Parts: sequence; structure tokens; C-alpha cells
Amino acid sequence: MYNILKLNKISPVIAGQFDEKYSCVDVCDNPDGILVRSAKMDEYRVGEKLVAIARAGAGVNNIPCDKMAEKGVVVFNTPGANANAVKELVLCAMLLASRDIIGGNKWVNSLSGDDVAKQAEKGKANFAGTEIFGKTIGIVGLGAIGVLVAKSCLALGLKVLGYDPYMSEKSKAALPKEVVISSLDEIYAGSDFITLHVPLLDSTKNMIGKDAFSKMKKGVIVLNMARGGLVDVNAIKEAIAAGVVRKYVVDFPEESVLNTENVIVIPHLGASTEEAEDNCAVMASRQLVEYIENGNIVNSVNYPNLSKERTGKVRTCILFDADAIDKINAVIGDKAVAVRGNYGYAIVDKDAAVTFEHNCGIRKIRVL
Ligand code: MLT
Repeated sequence: MYNILKLNKISPVIAGQFDEKYSCVDVCDNPDGILVRSAKMDEYRVGEKLVAIARAGAGVNNIPCDKMAEKGVVVFNTPGANANAVKELVLCAMLLASRDIIGGNKWVNSLSGDDVAKQAEKGKANFAGTEIFGKTIGIVGLGAIGVLVAKSCLALGLKVLGYDPYMSEKSKAALPKEVVISSLDEIYAGSDFITLHVPLLDSTKNMIGKDAFSKMKKGVIVLNMARGGLVDVNAIKEAIAAGVVRKYVVDFPEESVLNTENVIVIPHLGASTEEAEDNCAVMASRQLVEYIENGNIVNSVNYPNLSKERTGKVRTCILFDADAIDKINAVIGDKAVAVRGNYGYAIVDKDAAVTFEHNCGIRKIRVL
């Protein structure tokens, strides 16, 4: 029996992904796998049975992925599974920032009397906006979400600039040719909207700060459905006060941006649609089962992806430090091995389990 611990509410569709060998529970001291959405796992005490954590979502900044890799725990995410939901919220944010629907709605609800329609006609000039057709959007990050945003914006008549030095082959193939690949500075200088679709890493923290705002077009609308920490809050408040930024729409609430003029704060609803929650839950569960039962790694963020059909009676799965690869190879011979950053993974199918006389930088071995 495998115990899967749910650290957040996860769509009930997961019931169809786990058979009778699994029990999905809300409390468990020593689970085999974990399903998580936004729960912070920095303080999580890893039990000896834990082999994998699957995040039902794209961002993994709530999981200490390196620490998990050191303990031989594979972390998965679900790239693309909620991309359409996030894309639709970006379109919504563009429209909410361009037309003062929120202000107008608040105001109109304050009216009373038989002549509400007349009062509305008289006061509506205070809520006039601008159109998105014909404007330029700069997309920072051309992964699954960025590509979908690009397609929709082209269909809505915008000019699209895109920046992503790490674009995958999949994204390159899917990106419409009308998207003008640009530098960040070109995006800052030429965009009426800037939308962020990059992960929060040490290298991207506060990437949109004073320097970036100093290069932006006056009146730019900044959309942040990616992670709050990408934007320097003090710098954007100054840029708003200076009239450089017309509106900031952010899907990550923090006290310092609440009730701030020209900031629209959304309570992290990007992936909160029935469809996205189901897609993420199914993808995360399948990846967990595939790893627990067959050792195949699909969509890991801290170990290399590696999948193999079984060709022997016993499968040995070896998680190791990348710099130990020669020692590992010397024992296992020419088998399926992959390396990513500091960590490597090998799958060996034989009649019996592979054993190592010395540790050889091994983080975990599983025999399936
Ligand atoms: C993501 O990273 O994909 C989202 O934050 C998912 C979520 O809302 O849980």
C-alpha cells in the first residue's frame, strides 16, 4: 500500500488515477508521495519513505527542490496543465486595466433613485478607457502560458514582442511567426502592456525594478500572473506615482499592494478554474504513479527526465550526484542514464537488482 499525502485541496478527479494499492490522505507522517498546490514546504520534515512530490501547478517556489534532490526525492510539476486558465486571466487583466470596469461598477452600485440610468449616463465619462486592439504587448517568458498569450493577443489585433533566452523546442515550434523576438530593453521601450511568465528564482527576483521602469514607455500596463516577487513593489509604486506605469495587475496579494491606487490585486486565481484544477491533478497524479511503480521520471524540476520500457525482471533506479556519473557507469555499464545540473538518474533492468560496493555519490536506490 502506498500513502499519498495531499498538502492542499486537490481536485477529486485524482480518485480515478490511483488504484487500490494507494490511499490518498490529508494526514500522514511518512508518505510515499505528496501532492501539493501552494503549501509552503520549506519546513517539511521528509520521512524515510518519501520518494516524490508532485506540484499541481507550474511554479515550484513553495518547494525546496534542491534540498529534496539531496534527499533523493524527485519533485514534479505540471507544465502547461493550467496554461489556458492563466492565459484567460491575463486577457481579463488586460481588459480590467484598460477599461475602468471595477471603478465604474463600484460607482454605479452606489447610485439610487428612479433616474439611475440618467445619473449613470451623466457620470460615465469618469470611467472611460482605452482599447487593446492595435497596441503592443511584450511577453517576458515564452513557455506554455506565454505562447498561448501570444496567440490570443495576435488574434485580438495586438502587436506581440517576446523575450525568452531559454525557450524550449516545443515553445519554438508553437510560437506564431508574427511574434517579434526582442531583448528585454526592446520590450520595455516598445510595449503598452508587459506581461510576465517566468518562474521566481534568485535570478528573477525583483527583475522588474527601478532600472526596468526607467526604460519603459510612459503609461505602460504591467501584468503579473506569474509570481509577486518578480516585481519590486516599492519601485512599481514609484513608477505609478510618476505616471510611468498606468496600472499594475497582480495575482499575488501582499499587504503592501492592497488598496493602492492603480493596482488591481487578484487573490491568486490564475489556475483556479475547474478545468485547470482537474488537468493539474490528473497530470500530477499520473507522474507520481509512473515514478512510484516504474521509476519513470516525467516533468521533474530537480532530476533529469528519463523513461524506459521494462526489459528485465528487476528494475533498479539510481538517483546520484552528477559528478559521480563515471563511477555509476562503471558499475551499471551502458544503461539508460541522464544528467541534469547537479543530479543524475539511471534505470537498469536486469534479472537481479544492481548493487554498489561503495556509495559512489548515490542519493537513493529503488528496486522495483
Ligand atoms: C502555478 O504555479 O501554476 C499556479 O500558481 C498554480 C496554482 O494556482 O496553484
